[in-house]
Amino acid sequence: MNEADKKAYLAKYKEKKQNGERFFPHSIAKDAVTSLFLFVLLLGLVIFVGVPNEPPANPTDSSYIPRPEWYFLWAFQLLKYFPGSLEGAAIVGLGVVLAVGLFGLPFLDRNAKRHPFNRPVASAVMLLIVAGLAFLTIQAAVTTPKAAEAVSVGGDKTARIEAGGKLYAEYCASCHGENGEGGEIEGQAGEFTNPLNDEAFLVTHSSESLFNVVDYGWESLGMPPFGLKYGGALTDPDIRAIVEFVQAWAPSEEAAPEGDLAALALIETPSYSQHVKPIFDKRCLSCHGARKKGGYSMTDYTGVMTSGDNAPVIVAGDAANSILAQMLRGIKTDAGGQMPPSRPLANEQIELIERWINQGALNN
Ligand code: HEC
Ligand code: HEC
Repeated sequence: MNEADKKAYLAKYKEKKQNGERFFPHSIAKDAVTSLFLFVLLLGLVIFVGVPNEPPANPTDSSYIPRPEWYFLWAFQLLKYFPGSLEGAAIVGLGVVLAVGLFGLPFLDRNAKRHPFNRPVASAVMLLIVAGLAFLTIQAAVTTPKAAEAVSVGGDKTARIEAGGKLYAEYCASCHGENGEGGEIEGQAGEFTNPLNDEAFLVTHSSESLFNVVDYGWESLGMPPFGLKYGGALTDPDIRAIVEFVQAWAPSEEAAPEGDLAALALIETPSYSQHVKPIFDKRCLSCHGARKKGGYSMTDYTGVMTSGDNAPVIVAGDAANSILAQMLRGIKTDAGGQMPPSRPLANEQIELIERWINQGALNN
């Protein structure tokens, strides 16, 4: 500080003092008002906006990527440049250097000017620090792996589908059937699930929407949540594996169900073994195989034609009077209502079965 500066400063100091401006209470009051304002602002944010919690810690979830809050990312990144054994020393050492530097500032920097342009060295140092923090923060953000990439559980697709299949058998089969065929929910008579292995269903539902249903559940329909964050037992990678397993039931992408159905409409003389049985196997066997609902067993041709509490359910040559065909159309009969109970067959499939019945319901 040169003499002229010193004089000017002392004159200003004297003037302020004469005005009666003292550090206490003048500056303290100003600080108090500012602090109070910030406090109320934070309180408001907490009450009205809030921050969602992360899911509860799960030691078995190897896909979790631990990262500090964004405003600590720079320190997190900085520590990466130190070898593990020095990390502790580095974080304490740097902290001490910064704190001492801050306390030492008034002794190091004796410049009486306050405008940043008049204090090139101090301003440059500050800019460097800010730029450094920004650089480290960005560096940390871009090197954070995406959540999906971090999933190594299960390895390649085949292994994941296999793992998903085991989880499916454990968690889903009791309600959705071993092969996703749907059916009556175990222990809940009269409650049914739709087939998950249905082409039309799988083709129209993205991985994401399937994931969300399993993760969050669908309480109003009776589908419980399975995601850890919603009180379930499955991690994100678990659910993704299950979804991949379920999707593997879909035919290859080229064979869109619309194409298949259109082809069914062109078959004028359907054959039992080639056209009808595959539909029965896929959509009826879950309830009319070993479980023989309504006393009706559909495992073979004889069963289809002769079994049932209201047998015969098929009148050869007369679909309109066959209970089975009426039920496919959702007409209420003495034997029951809509078959399959949840999601009806496609119209093309029903018409094909009707043509087969009208042509004599042969074992062809
Ligand atoms: C307690 C029985 C129960 C269990 C266990 C269960 N679900 Fe469900 N789920 C349901 C019910 C009920 C529905 C709603 C009816 C339907 O759509 O079939 C449903 C619906 C769904 C749907 C939506 C279907 C649609 O038509 O939109 C998907 C996908 C699904 N479940 C997948 C799963 C998977 C995967 C599992 C295993 C992790 C599972 N569920 C376990 C009962 C269950
Ligand atoms: C989710 C289980 C379920 C599926 C899948 C299912 N059914 Fe049924 N079915 C039943 C039950 C339960 C009954 C007994 C009547 C009732 O309670 O409505 C029944 C009864 C019937 C009957 C009457 C049997 C009789 O003699 O009383 C026919 C016919 C029938 N189903 C045909 C079909 C056909 C065809 C399919 C496949 C396209 C099918 N069902 C799929 C559960 C199912």
